[in-house]
Amino acid sequence: MSNILQETKNNILYLTVNRPDKLNALNRETIAELGEAIKKGDQDPEVKVMILTGAGDKAFVAGADISEFYQYSVDEGKDLAKSGQEKLFNVAEKSSTPIIAAINGFALGGGLELAMACHIRIASENARMGLPEVSLGVIPGYGGTQRLAQIAGKGKAFEMIFTAGMVSAEQALEIGLVNQLTTQVELISTCESLAMKIMKNSSVAVGAAIKAINAGYEDGKNGFEAEIEAFGESFGSEDFKEGTTAFVEKRKPDFPGK
Ligand code: COA
Repeated sequence: MSNILQETKNNILYLTVNRPDKLNALNRETIAELGEAIKKGDQDPEVKVMILTGAGDKAFVAGADISEFYQYSVDEGKDLAKSGQEKLFNVAEKSSTPIIAAINGFALGGGLELAMACHIRIASENARMGLPEVSLGVIPGYGGTQRLAQIAGKGKAFEMIFTAGMVSAEQALEIGLVNQLTTQVELISTCESLAMKIMKNSSVAVGAAIKAINAGYEDGKNGFEAEIEAFGESFGSEDFKEGTTAFVEKRKPDFPGK
């Protein structure tokens, strides 16, 4: 049985982490499979948005698979974090196709880190989020110390990481950790409504915006310069011609996605 379920419908690639018996905990194999699935989706012109969720109604992802790493050495620990960041978490963040995390339950440790590597997070009311690593004697290793501070601010990151506590979906909304809150039943349809809004726009421009926004958080890059570059590049796309011509002709654009 595959660790990742995949289905493309109406230009949306649905990705489901499928280890419900282990609350969808991320082992190395699952990390590699999900990273590959995201890369493939990003290269598929039919896919305009990805929606990522967890199988079952209890967990999005309850963290890295503790049973896999609990006897690791220092070097193995470093390799686990490095290879995970390279194979999945950075791949998700850098995907030029937007990824919406549909947080349908526990998003803990690597699970919250995965949601934070996605571009947008929507949570159902039963969702609970946290970075409990210090309760295990370790720290977040899949980008959590960086992305939580970027998304919710340094103060909240300190608090959540030091206490190893969980926040409710409502609290997560208040601190900007999730973009929207919805019922469990409406979680996927809420993500789909957002996906529809995104898909009305130029996928080329959306991809360029992801690159420019990310540049502001990357070492050795200047976000403003990256923006100038990406802004200029947009003028060479067919989408730009269509978008601006449609405006002048007072009609809705039909973007070719090129
Ligand atoms: N790694 C490996 N297995 C995990 C896991 C993880 N991160 N999270 C849950 N599981 C497994 C449990 O071991 C259990 O497996 P088993 O039935 O073979 O014993 C199964 O998933 C169900 O979890 P269980 O703990 O029985 O569910 P619960 O409802 O009592 O508690 C949680 C839910 C999320 C509170 C609890 O599973 C938990 O604390 N998980 C670890 C969270 C964590 O620390 N993540 C960060 C890792 S760095």
